[in-house]
Amino acid sequence: MLVIHKIQEISAYSKGTKQAGLTVAFVPTMGYLHAGHIQLIREARKRANRIIVSIFVNPLQFNDSEDLKNYPRNPERDLGLLREEDVDAVFMPEVRQIYTDEKPGTIISNPGLANKLCGISRPGHFEGVLFIVHNLFQWVQPDFAFFGLKDYQQQLMIRKMVNDLAMPVEIFSIPTIREEDGLAMSSRNARLNNSERSRSTLIFQSMMLVQNAIHENKNLTNSDAFLILHNSLHAGLSAEDRIDYFGIYDPQTLELAAADKPALGNLIAIALYIGKVRLIDNLLLV
Ligand code: PAF
Repeated sequence: MLVIHKIQEISAYSKGTKQAGLTVAFVPTMGYLHAGHIQLIREARKRANRIIVSIFVNPLQFNDSEDLKNYPRNPERDLGLLREEDVDAVFMPEVRQIYTDEKPGTIISNPGLANKLCGISRPGHFEGVLFIVHNLFQWVQPDFAFFGLKDYQQQLMIRKMVNDLAMPVEIFSIPTIREEDGLAMSSRNARLNNSERSRSTLIFQSMMLVQNAIHENKNLTNSDAFLILHNSLHAGLSAEDRIDYFGIYDPQTLELAAADKPALGNLIAIALYIGKVRLIDNLLLV
């Protein structure tokens, strides 16, 4: 497995691979890999001849410097896991290679989607994500790229960017991998203490109450679904925790879904602070 730090070298590796007639799949990450990332890599393996993974904790997408400082990192362990998965090349750039100025003057923004859900409490977050994903795509020029559906808003905005800017890459969105009790895999889970970890199951349990209600009544409205979610979250939340947002949304526009229409086909999205750790999750209602 090649470990590459320089932009020119990852571009040359990818270009050479494609010139040899092979396809390239790309899995961008911020490291501290877990089963969700491994699943992305295994899906990538099914599609392409060569797999490139990037590990880069992107400062531009953190609107809170404490969050950036506390983001878990363990590059040695990550490299071990990537070797086990037979990844072909890992791209680990230095921050100063990518951000020479404090903040780049050019941004890629999609205010219609960025000012919803996570973007409300994390201003600038999605501009940071689009900036780095756009640049990584420019350098790696992958045929395929893989993202997790846990970050539903992120994958939707990346799909939009690729479509709007006619970028020659096919995006795959991969279902969320969960712990046995339903907690979505996330690098941030490592920051939960035992009590927070057990409280965090409230998110999945609340989503499942809505999903089960729809199984019993296909015509359950968005307002009924919202009420189930509301009551479950408020009843289960402890004094140390707090809600960022939750609701039932249109999965394409991320607008709140019309109260009197069926919830079936819509998206539950939730962001909670369990203690100091911000967790997000979502479920497409079927
Ligand atoms: O989902 C992530 O880990 C990051 O937002 C991404 C896509 C790697 C961009 O930094």
